[in-house]
Amino acid sequence: QTEISRVRNLSHIQMGKHEIEPWYFSPYPQEFSEVDMVYICESCLSYFGGLKQFTRHRAKCSLLHPPGNEIYRDEYVSFFEIDGRRQRTWCRNLCLLSKLFLDHKTLYYDVDPFLFYCMAIRDEHGCHLVGYFSKEKESVEGYNVACILTLPQYQRKGFGKLLIDFSYELSKREGKLGSPEKPLSDLGLLGYRAYWQETIVDLLMDGRTDANIEELGATTAMTTNDVLHTLQNLNMIKTSKNQHVIVLTDAVVAQWKKQKEKEKIKGKRTIDSDKLQWRPPV
Ligand code: COA
Ligand code: NA
Repeated sequence: QTEISRVRNLSHIQMGKHEIEPWYFSPYPQEFSEVDMVYICESCLSYFGGLKQFTRHRAKCSLLHPPGNEIYRDEYVSFFEIDGRRQRTWCRNLCLLSKLFLDHKTLYYDVDPFLFYCMAIRDEHGCHLVGYFSKEKESVEGYNVACILTLPQYQRKGFGKLLIDFSYELSKREGKLGSPEKPLSDLGLLGYRAYWQETIVDLLMDGRTDANIEELGATTAMTTNDVLHTLQNLNMIKTSKNQHVIVLTDAVVAQWKKQKEKEKIKGKRTIDSDKLQWRPPV
């Protein structure tokens, strides 16, 4: 790769009540590298180099939620669908912000070919963006996610799993199998592997789905390739009499039980497909 990896340029950002240290370079205008704190408006994602300008902006920013249709709402989160072409500035601001936490992806200045599925939580102060994934309107490779991000202040709380679950719910509605764009980052791979394993092992433990790769794919909207690799990673494919069979090993069952115990304590959140008000765009 010939691209020069550039050094982190912003030292701190503030978003809502959170102060965050960026991880990577993002092409914010040069003058923002010189301030100690960049203030990011939680609603419109505009950026300010000074508290005074930021406060002035907040007093008049009227955006109450991400600028698109709310296509999902449960007790916990909402999802908004945003068209990159119709909301160019907002989506470019989102890409700039997310580049601070993404190393390998080239930034899409051209947001027009993408839809952005943005997840927010609500509290007495309003709507807070937690994370999103982008999706090509037309993916030749059959990708159902281009970029995916949980904002660092919300990571490791199960939101990534919800985002991934949502992306597969959309694929189910489309009647397609989907897979995230490659290459995945290290964190992306960890998140997806955890999701794939849990989803497949849940189904097998449940016994509702025939234990074959096609059926598992059809039920989950995961590609047979992703199903196969997940099973191989877990040593769940055994060959007997020249046939491949899927087996639940003791190790996998033990791991599954541990996971369920954890969920009993932390609670498990999933996407309720009945609450998804969405049809594939035509
Ligand atoms: N270390 C080890 N495992 C991790 C991990 C970490 N830092 N982050 C996620 N995982 C795995 C764990 O198995 C975790 O389950 P657990 O918390 O019960 O152990 C599982 O992934 C799901 O974690 P979750 O809390 O749902 O994910 P998240 O909200 O933290 O989001 C990403 C995951 C990938 C979206 C997030 O790390 C992120 O935004 N990273 C930066 C952007 C990026 O790299 N995106 C992907 C490439 S496009
Ligand atoms: Na689901």
